[in-house]
Amino acid sequence: MNDPNGPMYYKGVYHLFYQYNPQGPVWGGDIAWAHSISHNLIDWIHLDIALSPTDPQLDIRGCWSGSTTHLPNHNLAILYTGRDSKEHQFQHLATPKDLNDPFLREWTKSPLNPLMTPINGINPLEFRDPSTAWRGLDGVWRVVVGAQVDGKWKALLYTSKDFEHWTKSDKTAFYLFDNDLVVECIDFFPVGINGSDGDNHYLNEDQYEKKFAMKVSFQANKRDCYVLGQYSPEIDEFRAESEFMDKGCDLRLDYGKFYASKSFYDSEKRRRVVWGWVMESDHDVDAHIRGWSGLQSFPRTIVLSESGRQLIQWPIKEIEALRGDNVNFQNKELHGDSVLEIPGVTASQADVEVSFEFEVAELEEAEPMDPSWVDPQLLCNEKNASVKGTFGPFGLKVLALDDLSEQTSIFFRIFKTNIDTEKYKVLMCSDQSRSSLKNGVDKHIYGTFLDLDPCQEKITLRTLIDHSIVESFGGEGRSCITARVYPKLAVNKASHLYAFNYGTKSVKISELNAWSMRNAQFESSIGEENH
Ligand code: FRU
Repeated sequence: MNDPNGPMYYKGVYHLFYQYNPQGPVWGGDIAWAHSISHNLIDWIHLDIALSPTDPQLDIRGCWSGSTTHLPNHNLAILYTGRDSKEHQFQHLATPKDLNDPFLREWTKSPLNPLMTPINGINPLEFRDPSTAWRGLDGVWRVVVGAQVDGKWKALLYTSKDFEHWTKSDKTAFYLFDNDLVVECIDFFPVGINGSDGDNHYLNEDQYEKKFAMKVSFQANKRDCYVLGQYSPEIDEFRAESEFMDKGCDLRLDYGKFYASKSFYDSEKRRRVVWGWVMESDHDVDAHIRGWSGLQSFPRTIVLSESGRQLIQWPIKEIEALRGDNVNFQNKELHGDSVLEIPGVTASQADVEVSFEFEVAELEEAEPMDPSWVDPQLLCNEKNASVKGTFGPFGLKVLALDDLSEQTSIFFRIFKTNIDTEKYKVLMCSDQSRSSLKNGVDKHIYGTFLDLDPCQEKITLRTLIDHSIVESFGGEGRSCITARVYPKLAVNKASHLYAFNYGTKSVKISELNAWSMRNAQFESSIGEENH
């Protein structure tokens, strides 16, 4: 699998479609929309494929990514990209065959397809991934599609009164990108500090006062970046507060392996939820042996931070239902250069929450921040998990062998700046350099700065570990880093979990909670269970 497509909640059922190759365990030319449903976003039933490539003029070379939209009268629509026999890209519509089928198993492609064609300078090879549509107060539907037009990358706006006949807006672009990276899977939605602010089903005036987020997947560096800004519906303009490539300090949904994400508004729980594709870094041969490649991240809620400067993500509450045995301790001093095993949980499948605190007066002694350290990922590489510091590195070692020869470390460092408004900089890293004794797999060290003042609050980390994937949420969800790892020996019972501090200064674990996690349940539509 690759991208998540058209997630939605409809009459008590969650639907997730995704890019899927029925011919083999790696990406290929006949990509279809696979379809799974769930009642709790944790346990899933896999249904038959919803959309397959069928028509040489429309989509024979793949039913590519797209979105779903809730229409009036409980109707629904999929907008997706089809590639014709010449690999030209078009946007198409499909609707449920029978709205009374609670699982919405079958979808009918519209006889009017294609609804959007690559004309007037649009590069037919780079025109794809329609967003969820939104309807303005004027009753007109709008959708954005990423495209390369006369060499420039744009989010194009299309409008329609009936959802079937679409015209490209006269505006040169809804958004014009300031770089030449290939643009994929644009997501555009309202955000506020409450989950319900993320409702984009029918936008109202109140929401127009609020912020909107535009998320873009940049193919060249496989990053899901976003900007926040103001959307003016009268002139259909989105004014972003920052730039996508802001001196290497861009805002990203995840600073690790997480791409082509797609969010949806869950009207039942009044929240916005996002998934991302976590891709492989081993060889295609390994995928053939394994029989599959690619997976979806845990679903996460998205809201705006109190500061209004960034998005906050957090694993959906439902995941807590998988928690089993718990280990808890409080007020534990982690002296300099120490490693502390956390026993009593299944370390290969666990949910860990930890918070660290410090003596504020002592923070004065933190290492000075060099103003040239602008790229947090580079800094995490230079100062990886084994490089000792003053305040840090401290954090968790997961999927670790007892001699630590295999381990993935998620850790923080605190630096002192000479800027009055931001006295300290907190660096968060996820170090995969020793995550596998195997060769030829991704051993990147990922990193980001956390928008957090360690004098005012504790530094928290939540890490979800599931055998070969480690999803970390720093600073209550301000920064996320996903690592796809391939431990060779630190598997199942041989896998250990540790807290560590390689700084010279002590840090205090104010509280740590770790839970063993149960398996989610999967079923295929024919009732055959495979856990
Ligand atoms: C992103 C992407 C999309 C495209 C799909 C094809 O990973 O390249 O732009 O629609 O995958 O599978």
